[in-house]
Amino acid sequence: MPLVLGIDVSTTATKALLVDTEGTPRGSGTMSYDYAVPRPQWSEQEPALWWDAACGAIRAALDDAGVSGADVAAVGLSGQMHGAVLLDESDEPVRPAILWNDQRTGAECDAIREAVGAARLIELTGNDALTGFTAPKLLWVRAHEPERWRRVAHLLLPKDYVRLRLTGEHAVDKADGAGTLLFDLAARDWSPEVLEALDLDPGILPSTAEGPEATGTITASAAAATGLRAGTPVVAGGGDQAANAVGVGATDPGVVALSLGTSGVVFAATDAPIVEPRGRVHAFCHAVPDRWHLMSVMLSAAGSLRWFRDALAPGRSFEELVAEAAGAPPGSDGLWFLPYLTGERSPHPDPDARGAFIGLTVGHGRAHMARAVLEGVAYGLRDGLDLMIAAGMPRPAQIRASGGGLASELWQQILADVLDVELTAVATTEGAAHGAALLAMPIGGLAASVEESVGRLPAPRTLAEPGADASGYAERHAVHAALYPALAPLFPRM
Ligand code: XUL
Repeated sequence: MPLVLGIDVSTTATKALLVDTEGTPRGSGTMSYDYAVPRPQWSEQEPALWWDAACGAIRAALDDAGVSGADVAAVGLSGQMHGAVLLDESDEPVRPAILWNDQRTGAECDAIREAVGAARLIELTGNDALTGFTAPKLLWVRAHEPERWRRVAHLLLPKDYVRLRLTGEHAVDKADGAGTLLFDLAARDWSPEVLEALDLDPGILPSTAEGPEATGTITASAAAATGLRAGTPVVAGGGDQAANAVGVGATDPGVVALSLGTSGVVFAATDAPIVEPRGRVHAFCHAVPDRWHLMSVMLSAAGSLRWFRDALAPGRSFEELVAEAAGAPPGSDGLWFLPYLTGERSPHPDPDARGAFIGLTVGHGRAHMARAVLEGVAYGLRDGLDLMIAAGMPRPAQIRASGGGLASELWQQILADVLDVELTAVATTEGAAHGAALLAMPIGGLAASVEESVGRLPAPRTLAEPGADASGYAERHAVHAALYPALAPLFPRM
């Protein structure tokens, strides 16, 4: 039975997933790890962690499926985006990788806007300079660790370090490339103009490839380490958001995906590089050729509910908390929650944004507060969706939702009402690793094209439709939209 292998190098674990011709999971393995926070707002990982975890996860997946490496026709890679992996001439890391959730680079973001021109940067790359992206991390290392910077011979993204160890090649897919802020979005490759403005040597950059294209084959030493067969092709794959979108079938314009995990992401494929003029939502290349995508990223979505539970209802299960929230009326009797607990990206690209409860009275209890959290997250996701529509994306007829937050029926209904759109679910819990596997099918001979492998996904089923509360939520969303601008001047700036 021919299989393909998808590998997702995430921030907390590396997952290996074997899928068959139908796209059905046949075996998986996961190896977990942590990231280091050497200082507040910093976030780092040693690349060796990823490689060790990938070897363990691949072996576990082969065991789980009861197959050998010879049954794996091709491998696809996915992983956390935006991290800066800096290697010397011998491919040894010169320092730990700086990750997507690291916030140290505010000054470097200003310097990038200054050097390229704020409007030109958005026009070329599709994005404003955000602390999470890769380019400002390079400028930070150059300014603060000149000894290490002098030794840098290669830049890679996290999953591409695993690719290097699997194939010996320095390569990146277009989706992750676009997340570096060094890409010409329309040309789908490195931007000579941005590189020159930032005085960065193009010689350190990996080659770029479309998601389903081969970027080398498994070497003999990687075969010995993983159990895969030497010579197995490895495709470029995609950054985790783009690969996850492939896994839920969001590859064509009109299909919008929502993922409600710690962070909340609204993702829409486009057939042209559409850009939000102020860079308030991200515009990246998709993991499939001739496609781009718009994406809004809320940093604390289900993460806000977790915080609320831990801080105000310790020991309660999420089910109990949500059942309590259902006891408060829509609109939470005039209580508002802003979900910017870890800063924000969309619609307010502000690492110093803060969360808030607004409008508390003695009449409010924990049920109101819990419901306000669910509603505040939904309003924030609506902000992102509205910006994407204003930028030129067609209003979706339905949104495909995935992620742990969707377990709550109340939250499903609030989302359908606030977003004013039908919410559907796809039958995958495998996320980015699944998408990476689908991207590897054509080269492995399991499908003629990615279109075909995605076309085999089961049809989505309805979770919730907008109901009687939708119009009230539309009015309340307008109030929500006025709260951040009013409060932002009060937030302490780092
Ligand atoms: C996407 C993003 C996160 C990371 C972490 O822009 O920052 O999804 O890729 O997984």
